[in-house]
Amino acid sequence: MSDNFSFRLWRYEGEPGELIPLLQSAQNHFGYIPRRAIRYISGVSGIPESDIYGVITFYSQFRLRPTGRLLIRACDGTACHVTGSKLIIETIEDELGISVGDTTEDGLFTLNTVACIGCCSLAPVIMVNEETHGNLSPVSLRKLLRKIKRREERTEITASSHSQ
Ligand code: FES
Repeated sequence: MSDNFSFRLWRYEGEPGELIPLLQSAQNHFGYIPRRAIRYISGVSGIPESDIYGVITFYSQFRLRPTGRLLIRACDGTACHVTGSKLIIETIEDELGISVGDTTEDGLFTLNTVACIGCCSLAPVIMVNEETHGNLSPVSLRKLLRKIKRREERTEITASSHSQ
């Protein structure tokens, strides 16, 4: 463990509210909260690992798995909300078999929601990494996700055939 993460641990003084910044620090450092970080925090703070897991699962900002290669940010701001973002988010969850905050088993997609992406005229909108996709319907969204998945699979096959 190093830099900012350890620095915070050094300063830990057993205040109950201190656990959240420690977890934030671990997530900033690793991109998620790995098992070893939980063990380490538990050892330093004396908080049982099961309690730490309880806090992590309570707050949707924390992740127990690494972010997928593709981060989907589904907008749930006002303009997107009134044009059906709830259905859009449910469609993504159904198509990928994950909930908001989760990553698919193959490590390809992570789904998060955001307040506004800044292109409300295209509502409802999602971003997949840096690509923006707007005016979505459940049907066009499913097509889009399948297209992206095929594209990623092709890229992987090409990359692995070049490395042989
Ligand atoms: S509310 Fe969704 S892009 Fe602004």
